[in-house]
Amino acid sequence: MRTSSGSNRRRPTARLRAMPDDDAPRPSFPPGGRVPLIAHGPVYLRPGERRDIPVFLRWMNDSRTTRTLLMNNPIGEAMEERWFDQMLEHHGRDRWYFVICRMADDRPVGSIDLRDVDVRNGSATLGIVIGDPADTGHGYGSSAIRALVAFGFDQLRLERIQLEVFEYNASARRVYERLGFVHEGTRRHAFYRDGAHHDDRVMAILREDWAAQARD
Ligand SMILES: CC(C)(COP(=O)(O)OP(=O)(O)OC[C@H]1O[C@@H](n2cnc3c(N)ncnc32)[C@H](O)[C@@H]1OP(=O)(O)O)[C@@H](O)C(=O)NCCC(=O)NCCS
Repeated sequence: MRTSSGSNRRRPTARLRAMPDDDAPRPSFPPGGRVPLIAHGPVYLRPGERRDIPVFLRWMNDSRTTRTLLMNNPIGEAMEERWFDQMLEHHGRDRWYFVICRMADDRPVGSIDLRDVDVRNGSATLGIVIGDPADTGHGYGSSAIRALVAFGFDQLRLERIQLEVFEYNASARRVYERLGFVHEGTRRHAFYRDGAHHDDRVMAILREDWAAQARD
């Protein structure tokens, strides 16, 4: 599935510490003592699996979700399988692609990736989709971005993470700004949708911006 398009002081696993009050409700995750490698708040990130394809198809064939994505045409199973195979070829090299899952019940709610990973210059481009509109506005997107940005800076040694966001995608722009992404420029009439050209914004966060947030 395509994903084109604050401060994070706690360690990702901090929420999983034992709770002092035995009667207090306990998070259902991690069953069996799993501690996910890439996580923040209510979500963790795992690699995409072939069994995810039906849910990817549901998300990417919903115009409520794709209206703010570059990818905006119907997708079939064979196309998605071909895309999945290509994604696997790149995963861990110049791309890191993950499914966003809820800690509470492992349910997938979206996907997120770093693509065009350039190890020489330390740069990459982030894309994210929360697949079902019913799952937006619960903090999953913000938490997934925090988790992936931390992974990019702390594990991949990136210097800069950028993204492109449609000018009319105001809610996404607010999320990115809140997380410390800076508006670097506007590409006028960069894409065509519904009979008109629209602008998009390039936004980015540097390693030093991220570190400054952690110090605040
Ligand atoms: C843009 C997108 C990734 C944001 O993800 P999200 O999970 O909805 O984001 P969040 O829930 O973290 O934040 C969205 C809003 O919910 C609020 N929110 C955050 N945590 C919340 C919580 N626990 N409970 C209720 N609301 C919450 C945020 O304050 C934010 O409010 P705002 O719109 O006033 O700024 C998602 O809407 C999406 O995938 N949209 C479709 C595809 C897309 O546009 N992708 C981005 C392309 S650049």
